[in-house]
Parts: sequence; structure tokens; C-alpha cells
Amino acid sequence: MIKVAIMASGNGSNAENIIRVALQYPTQLKVVVVISDRPQAFVHTRAQELGVPSYTVERLKDRLQHEEEILALLSKLQVEWLCLAGYMRILSGTFLQHFYDLKLQAFRVANIHPSLLPAFPGLNGYQQAFKAQVAQAGVTLHLVDQGVDTGPILRQLSFDRAPDDDLTSFQQRGMELEYQAYQEFINALAHHLIKRDGERLYLLEE
Ligand code: GAR
Repeated sequence: MIKVAIMASGNGSNAENIIRVALQYPTQLKVVVVISDRPQAFVHTRAQELGVPSYTVERLKDRLQHEEEILALLSKLQVEWLCLAGYMRILSGTFLQHFYDLKLQAFRVANIHPSLLPAFPGLNGYQQAFKAQVAQAGVTLHLVDQGVDTGPILRQLSFDRAPDDDLTSFQQRGMELEYQAYQEFINALAHHLIKRDGERLYLLEE
């Protein structure tokens, strides 16, 4: 049984999607906790409604102390994989080291980013892409490294900008792809289908 934790800062629609998808694999993996840095985040409500305990670890102290508190919780629960779902803080190398996987040669920390990386890293990916008037936008599911949105890419899904798109419709289509990307990731995780082959990491299908 692979124990998974979700970290999220806000609305939590990706977190909800991950929990729902994970429920399809009750013998393979389990979302054991949701951790947020914000007590008012809507993700808490979503987690509670789905029966997943959620905690706030506020960043009141320095970054390393904050991360140590999170790590204490995660190691108590024997969490092996982390899914970041709109978690708006950068994790330090010291934190990530606890999730290093020798076989994958990467950290067992996944993230969804709202652009086709390496385009539009950082905040507000959809706004950046919409403003830049790209013909094609998309989302990236990747493993996290010490950089900002630079870790190994596992899946990218793209969509065309429609002529009558406003930011809301543009973003909505992107969000649907975020859910799809995390669904593929959880499916691969449940079946041990995340593999390294030489320089690259792959998300294989069943
Ligand atoms: C999502 O669009 C996610 O890709 C983005 O925050 C949103 C969270 O929505 N993440 C980032 O921008 C990370 N750099 P949600 O709380 O409804 O899942």
C-alpha cells in the first residue's frame, strides 16, 4: 500500500480529484493526509468531505522549521509520495532529500503546473499564457527538484486557444487537463509504472 500525501494552498480542486481517483485503487494506494499552509483554504473542506484528515502547518517561523514540522507529520504517517496540488511554496533541497528515490533518481514529489513548461513557469501560468496570446496552451505534470518548475516532466497535455476564449473559459479547459494528468499519474503510481530509462523518466500506461 503506497501512502500518499497532498499539499495544497487554496481551492483544492486538484486535491479532490486526486483523492477521488485514489479511491479507485483501494488496495494499491491511499491518500492519508492533506496538508495546507493556510487554515482558511477550501481544500480542508473538500478533504474532510471525502474522509481524509487535513492539517494546517502555517509558515509562521523560518522555512526550515516549517518544513521540519511538515516532515514530522509525514514521517509519522509513513508517507512515501507527495502530490503538490496548488501548493504555493518552494520546497528546499533538505526537505526533498527525504523523498529521494534511488531507482528513479528523482524525488517522489509530483506537481501539476498550469502551462507547457518550460514556458511560463512561476505564478499564474494561465494568465501568462492567455496574455501572451499563445495558440496552444497546456499543463505539465512533473516531479519536483530544487528549481522553480524545472523537475523531470512526466506528462504534458495541451489545448488550443479558441477564438472566443476569455481567461475563465481558457483556464477551465486547462483545469480539466490538470485533472486528467493527475489521474494518469495516480494510475501509474498504483501500478508501479513510473520508470527511469537512461536520461528520462516515463509514465507508462497499463
Ligand atoms: C492549479 O491551476 C495548479 O496548476 C496551480 O494552482 C491551481 C490550483 O488549483 N499551481 C501552480 O500554479 C503551481 N505553480 P486547485 O487549488 O483548484 O487545485
